[in-house]
Parts: sequence; structure tokens; C-alpha cells
Amino acid sequence: MSLGLDYYPEHWPEMRWATDACLMRDAGLQVVRLAEFAWAKIEPAEGEFDWNWLDRAVETLAEVGLQVVLCTPTAAPPAWLTRNDPDILPVDAQGRRHSFGGRRHYCANSPIYREHTRRIVGAMATRYGQHPSVIGWQIDNEFGGGQTARCYCHNCVAAFRNWLQRRYGHLDAMNDAWGTVFWSQTYDDWTQIEPPGLTGEKPNPSHVLDYYRFSSDSWVDYQQIQIDILRARTNGAQFVTTNLMGLFSDLDYYKLAASLDFVSWDNYPTGQTDRWRDMLSSPGFATETVHAYDVGDPTITGLAHDLMRAVKDKSFWVMEQQPGHINWGDYNPAPRPGVVRLWTWEAIAHGADTVVYFRWRACPYAQEQYHSGLLRHDGEPAQGLRDVQAMRREQAVMAAIQGTPVCAEVALLHSYDDLWAIDLQPHNRDLSYLRHLFTYYRALQLAGVPVDVAPPTCDLSRYKLVIAPTLHLVDETIAENLHRYVEQGGHLVLSVRSGFKTTSNRVVDTALPGLLADLVGATVEEWHSLPPGATYPLEMSALSGQPFAVRIWAEALKPVNAQVLAHFIGGPLEGRPAATLNCIGRGEVIYLGVWADDALAGALLAWLLPRAGVEPVATVSPGVKVMCRVGDGHEFVFLLNFSDVVATAKLSRIGYTDALTAEPVAQELWLGPREVRILRG
Ligand code: GAL
Ligand code: ZN
Repeated sequence: MSLGLDYYPEHWPEMRWATDACLMRDAGLQVVRLAEFAWAKIEPAEGEFDWNWLDRAVETLAEVGLQVVLCTPTAAPPAWLTRNDPDILPVDAQGRRHSFGGRRHYCANSPIYREHTRRIVGAMATRYGQHPSVIGWQIDNEFGGGQTARCYCHNCVAAFRNWLQRRYGHLDAMNDAWGTVFWSQTYDDWTQIEPPGLTGEKPNPSHVLDYYRFSSDSWVDYQQIQIDILRARTNGAQFVTTNLMGLFSDLDYYKLAASLDFVSWDNYPTGQTDRWRDMLSSPGFATETVHAYDVGDPTITGLAHDLMRAVKDKSFWVMEQQPGHINWGDYNPAPRPGVVRLWTWEAIAHGADTVVYFRWRACPYAQEQYHSGLLRHDGEPAQGLRDVQAMRREQAVMAAIQGTPVCAEVALLHSYDDLWAIDLQPHNRDLSYLRHLFTYYRALQLAGVPVDVAPPTCDLSRYKLVIAPTLHLVDETIAENLHRYVEQGGHLVLSVRSGFKTTSNRVVDTALPGLLADLVGATVEEWHSLPPGATYPLEMSALSGQPFAVRIWAEALKPVNAQVLAHFIGGPLEGRPAATLNCIGRGEVIYLGVWADDALAGALLAWLLPRAGVEPVATVSPGVKVMCRVGDGHEFVFLLNFSDVVATAKLSRIGYTDALTAEPVAQELWLGPREVRILRG
């Protein structure tokens, strides 16, 4: 386990570097990331490289024993390059070309930019690919950030047509998949196809979904150019990663991660909370998770961490960890003493093996002047550094945890195709894919049950329970995978709008839920979108007749083999089944034909978890998160209190010791506000 920091030596006078390096080392930091925006310093004019400053920066850090992660600087092409080759600049959906002066101002499909990329990455890899203090590489910085995932320039148009030809082979197949007979959209030549930019009315959703997939694949391709160069020149001795953005969903991170050694991501809990908090509440019900104002919502941070672990099903790095207040949120609160430590342990609890703080020192100029660092603008320690220093004596425990897998018995299925398709046609403005995922994620977190996020095609056999809130686009591979899982004894929960569509984003022409109908043992006869204020009452016989109020979405089911678990007890669907249970092989499938609120999701889990043999790690009061990592005969349990008040956690098992003090711990624990306990069992 290592802790590190993001450093910009080019922002400070060289005479300060050695002081910084000593301060870093003395704080117990081990890893320094450099250079992700330094292209103009490295190559001030085309073909003229200045390595001296970077050589000296690396040496200054290496001299005190720090390890370096170098970045390829392609997120910030310099002014000379942009001026010489304006064709590299991306174009938005309205046809406007971006200008120089920010970052990420390039198109992944620009052949000219790809050539410049090969040059700069090749030059850096040649210079540092064998350097003993350089342990690995970060490619670029936050692909897709600042709404740059989708470009509409002429290079992208050409690449899109090729992508479509590879996908469909024949134009007829594409016309058929998209349903272009509608509104006379039929294409009779590949060159007629444009990106779905400024169409009259809405563009065809199958066209848009393919454009999203194509755009995401463009970054995967672009990244591969860099991976190949780095691998060829580093002899495999240095790792290759990139930094992702958690819940950011314009790129298919499963695909982007596939040929990296591991993923890293940039974790800003208070900013993410501003960005995603709407996903935790829907008009009329549910609230944010209980948390103090300065810690971010642990449900949001948690799902992001768990997704980052999912994309390669392994532990990850946090490449940028919020060190204090940030500059880009709605409010940017300053975290109180101890919160940076809380975030660090939270990351470790979710599977991080290295946490790197962004940034070392607050910058007095340009776009991020109001962002904090571990040091203040004046170079003196900020609260974040004091938190880091306090963790020095905890690093032996971090090292023991490193590499151990997170232990989860429940999986939550997640797919970018489903997210894109639902969010393109939500049919109800409150029905968002992530919001639905959060309903179950939060209910599991409140129940003290750690979760793995997983794609619907992965091997599910290690899970006791799998929940697929919206498994919208289904093909034979997915249907068979789920069948196999259930037959062998798995418990599967499917919910609304699952199995509705083909992978081409058209509604199936068989009874809903389409390819999942056999598995569910029931069909969906009709569905209702509920506007705010409309509720359908429902009674769950399995939950001793408890009544619930359904909002947002309701489906009337017709059992074929399944037994009925719930009925509507009023409204237009009165008397019709709303949830079913079907036994297949040694397992069972529950179909919940309604959008669950917190009360229903919580009650369903309270009934289902014991049935599936899932035991919570601890019973916790609101605001407390529980996670677990297991390996080498050791179990580590993490209890993190994000609330502002004293909270409790009652462990399901006894016999733990405090990992930091080695003292035995009682079964029931008290946690102060923002307190972390790490237990060893
Ligand atoms: C990240 C980005 C960094 C910096 C940071 C500020 O998203 O990668 O370069 O801008 O945000 O919080
Ligand atoms: Zn483009």
C-alpha cells in the first residue's frame, strides 16, 4: 500500500523542488505523479525537446527515494500544435469547433493528432521507459472529461461510417437494426450517414446508441496506440494505467480498462456529491444518505469506487484524491480535520491499493487557483497534509491489506449500453438508470452488506444474490449467463424494463420481458409511467401483506410458471400481480415489476438476504459504511462513520481485534463523527 501525490514541478521555481521532495518523504508519501499537462514544457516547438527540467525533477524526487509515475501529456496539446493543425480540434454536436486555452482540445479520430501522439509518447517512453525510479505510466488524463467524449468532426464522420460497416457488414442489416423505414430514414449508401447531431426533432435512438458506442470505442482505440508504444519501450517493467472518473458514463470503462494493467480514478467526494446527488432522490421520496456536510455522500463515493473495482474486477489506484476543498463543485466545503484520512480509508475499504492526493501545493494562478493542495498557496502545510502525516503509523496496516480482494456476496449488474439506452428514452423523466441502481445500492449499504458491481456477461457463480435493477438490452449471451447462474443455485432479482430491448435498441417483438421471459416465468402485460403525485398501492404477500406506495413505474405481470409475490391493491392495475418468484434448477428469480422506493427496497432485502444466505457484516446506524477485504487467512472489516453524530455498529461475528492497536473489540462499537475503525479477524 502506498500513498502519493500529484506534483507539478513546472509550476514552481526549481530551487523549491528539493524542499518539496523532503517534505513529501517526511510525510510518509512514496509515489509522485508528474507531467500529465506538461507537453508545452517538454516540446516547446515541434521536434525540439527539452528533457532537462523533467530529468532534474525526476532525479530530485528519486534522490529522496520517491517513486515516479509519469504521464503522457496528450490531454493538453500545445499552442503551436493547435495553430499548425487546427484540424485536431474537436467539434461539438452543434457543429462548433473548440478553441485553444483549456484542455482536452483534440479529437481521438484525428489522424494528425494520432501522429503527434505517437511522436510525443514514443519520445517520452524512449527517455524514461527504463528509468529505475519510474514505476509506471498514466496515459493522458481523464478521457472524455469536460464533455469531450463525443466529437462530431469530419474525421469522426468517416470513422463512424467505417465502424458501422464493420458492425453490420451490409447496409440492409443496419437499416433493419435501426428501423430506418420510419420517417424515410433509409440509407442507400454508407456516405449518407452522419453523426446524430442537429437533426430536426430527435434523432433515431438506435443511431444515437451506436454513436455513443462508436465514440467510446474511438477512445479505446486511441488509448491502444499509447499502450502499444509504452509496452514496446518499457519491457513490461513499468505499469500502464489511465485515470477514470468514477460514475462518469460517456465511455464504456469495461472496454477502456481491458488492456491496462489496472485502472486508477480521480475521487472528489464533495464534488461528486454535488454532481450526482439528484440520483439519490426522486421527486416525492427518498433523501440523500445521512452524512456530514463536508465528507461527501458515502453512497455516491461508494458506488463510484465499487464500479472502478468492477471494470477490471481487481483492486485499483486512486490517482487523484481530494486533499481539502476543491474548486469545481457547487459549494466546495473545507473538510474538517480527519476527513482526508476518512476518504483514504474509505478508498482502501473499497479496494484501492494506492491513494495519490491531488495536488501537492495549491496553485496561485489559472483555472484551479481555488483548489486546495496538501500545502497551501504559500507552501505551508494545509490540513490535508496533517491528516496524511497522522496516517504514517497506519501504513503497516495498509501494507497488510494491499492486494487482498474485497469480499462481497451480492452483485449489482451494471452496463453502459443499458444506461445509455434508458437515459436516451427514459419515458419518465425521473426514471434514470443510475438512480435506479442507487436505490438498491443504498439499501444494501444501509443493510451492512458490501456489494460488487458487475457487468451482465461476467461469471456470477461466486455471488449468493444478483440484482439487476434495469437489464434493458438483452441478447442470448446475457440471457444464458443468467440462466446458468440461477440454475446452479443463484438468487436473481430483476426489475422494471428488463428484457425490453434488443442490443440494437429496438423493442423486442415477443412477450416482455423478451429473452428473459422463460427465466422470469411470467410476462409483462402492460406498463405505466407515473407522473409526480400519482401512486399505485401495492401489497407484498411475502412481506406479511405490508402495503407500499409505488411511484415512477409500474408493470402488470401475468404468471406462467411463477408464483405471485405482490399485487396492486388499488389504482388502474388493482388486483394484478406486481412481483413474481420463479424457481429454476437450484435457484430462483424474482421479478419486481415496480420502481422500488427506499421502504420497498429495504423490506425486500430484509426478506431476501437471509433467504439467499447473505449475512450482513454488521448492523449499522445510518451514515455508517461497512466494507470487508479478505486474504491470506485474514479478514479486514472497515467501519466508517460519515455522519456528524456518534453512531453504532453491531458486528455479526465476534473475535475481531482493532487492526491499528491490536486490542480486542467488543461486538457492539461506538464510532465518533467521521471516525474510522479497521478491524482484523
Ligand atoms: C480532475 C483533473 C485534474 C484537476 C482536478 C481538480 O478531474 O484530472 O487535472 O483538474 O480534477 O479537482
Ligand atoms: Zn472528431
